[in-house]
Order: sequence, then C-alpha cells, then structure tokens
Amino acid sequence: MKKAIRLVILTLVAIFMMSIATSAIMEVTVSVDGVPVSYKDNLKPYITEKGKTVVPLAKTLADFGAKVNYNQETNEITVAKGDVSVIVPIGKQYIKVNNKFLILNEPTKLIKGIAIVEIAPLMRSLRYAVNYDPKSKNVNLENTPVPEPNNLIDAVPPWAENPVLEEKQIDKKLVALTYDDGPNGESTTIILDVLKENNAKATFFMLGKNVYNFKEQAIRTANEGHELANHSYSHPQLTKLSVARINQEIQGTQKAISSVTGITPKLLRVPYGAFNQTVKNNAGLPLIQWNIDTLDWKTRSAKKTIDAVLNNVKDGDIVLMHSIHISTAEATKTIVPELIKRGYTLVTISELAEARGVKLQNGKVYNSFRK
Ligand code: NI
Repeated sequence: MKKAIRLVILTLVAIFMMSIATSAIMEVTVSVDGVPVSYKDNLKPYITEKGKTVVPLAKTLADFGAKVNYNQETNEITVAKGDVSVIVPIGKQYIKVNNKFLILNEPTKLIKGIAIVEIAPLMRSLRYAVNYDPKSKNVNLENTPVPEPNNLIDAVPPWAENPVLEEKQIDKKLVALTYDDGPNGESTTIILDVLKENNAKATFFMLGKNVYNFKEQAIRTANEGHELANHSYSHPQLTKLSVARINQEIQGTQKAISSVTGITPKLLRVPYGAFNQTVKNNAGLPLIQWNIDTLDWKTRSAKKTIDAVLNNVKDGDIVLMHSIHISTAEATKTIVPELIKRGYTLVTISELAEARGVKLQNGKVYNSFRK
C-alpha cells in the first residue's frame, strides 16, 4: 500500500517536472554522435514553449558534416548531406524536401542574423536520427539512417507561408500599450481592429463588471492574443477598502475574466494607480503601473494622446490609455502604425517583462522595463 502511494507521488512529481520543462523556454545542449557542438554569439539551442528544439542552423549542420548554403536572393538555406538536400526558407514554417514539403512546428527565423531552425524534422528529412535525453538536456544527432518522413505534403498551406513569428525579443525595441477600464462596445472594437490590422499586441486591464457586460469583446480580446489583466471589479480606490473588500474586488475580476474567456489574469493594475502596503500584501498578483501617462481620460483629445506617446516613447515603456474613449481609439489608429514604423514591436506586459529577463513577483510594483 505504501509503495503504491509512493509511486503515485513520484508519478505526479514527474508530470509536474515535465510540465515545467515544456512551459518555459529552456536551453539544451546539442551533440553530434555524442560530441557537444560549441555555439558562439550567446545563441544556444533551446526548447520552445511548444516543446520543440530549435538550433542555430549553420553551426549545427556544419558540425554534422552537412553542406550549408545561404541564397540571399531567395532568402533560403540549402542543407545537403549525402544524396539528400533540403531547402529551409527563412521566416516560413516548412522545409522543402525534393519537390515536397514538410510542415514545421516552429517557423525558421533569424535572430541576430543567425538562422534558427527546428532540428528534428530537418534531421529526419536528411534521414538521420535525433534523440533527446531529458535527464542531461542533450539532443544527440546520430549518424544512423532513419526512414524518409511519411508526412511530406504537395502544397504549403498559407499559414505556413506567413507564420506569426514569436521569436525571442532579444534585441528589439519593445513597447507595451495598455488599455484600462474596458471592455466596452465601440471603442474597444476599434482598438482591437487596429491592433489586428497591424499584427500588434497590447494588454487590457479590465473591470470585472464590464467583462460580464461586454463578454463578446472580452472573448475577442483573448482570442486575438492580447493579454487580459485585472483592474478590479468596480474601480474603487483600493487603499480605502478593508482587506475583505480588496480581495472581493480582485478575486471577483479574476473569476469574471476566467469564467468568460478561460484566461486567468496574471497582472493587476490598481484603480488610480493607488496602492499601499495592505494592497500590495493582498494583491496576489504583480502590480503594473506605467511610465507614459497619456491623460487620455482627461483630455479626450486624440491629438494630445498621440503626442503624449510619440513625443516621449522609449524602448521598454509602458503606456497608459483607456479603451473606453473614442478619442483613444482614434489615437490608436495613428500610434500603432507609427510605433511600428519607428522599429518598435508592440508586445504585452508579460512578453515585455520576459524579454527583459524580469520574473514578475506578486505584490511588487513595476513602472517600466527600460534597459
Ligand atoms: Ni482605471
């Protein structure tokens, strides 16, 4: 009996460890026939959030003894080994094997000018074995021929031609636009439209009561990949409330957002930016403030909102706006494309923190993630 219980516990621990391993980006080593490949440029192979191993292509395949050629005109890399050659187009989510295609789980991308590719399908296409040992976190490329992949297809689906690149945001200029007090009907919808057109992400600090009133907009916000976050249930100043009421405001919104959208928020923005030690102690979430205050709620002027952002914005900033004003929605139409034109990537707060190596802590206050 005792043995059985111990076995159950060990199994649960193992499952837990595996879920940790696949939920975060984790570096791994790569070996060729047991000899570790040494990577320069601080770019190492890693396991993506989808649990796939991606590696710097040129160095890995060169150590494997393959011929690697980059064609600048077509933006494709040709990898040849023995009598098989594979074409790896940059920015696409497939590789070309003879006249057929193999869909990848991760798009091939350039980071710091180095092509990063999902290794297992590429090696399999070259007819060689890939073995991952989770214990040593080592991926071994073996000179052992394997059968041809049986999932080659004749044509590439459009999404694999133009995949969304969720690359490590290492060297990019990043900004997090944040929209408070929604969702609502009209202006939230316009803001979501603009973000979608520009393939940009933002963070929406929602009021629990509005989530119930505008379920459709809340669900759309979640479906389009934005971050849904907590802005209390009914927008009181939390510093004036009892601990019980603070908990009610915060937990009520966690429940509203998760029951309507299926997403449990990981961030809190306190109404009016007002917090004290009691609020921090009872938040149970990181407190996200801002460092660019557009005062859009006060001016209700698209032009002033635009100027507040564009005249002040720097890499790592958190911009405060409100999704419930038409003037802010109008301003968003200018702000989003202009920031992209200036080379910024618009990301969520969690993405920004992660890109800057900040592990957000409950009860701690964050104003920006400038370098
Ligand atoms: Ni507010």
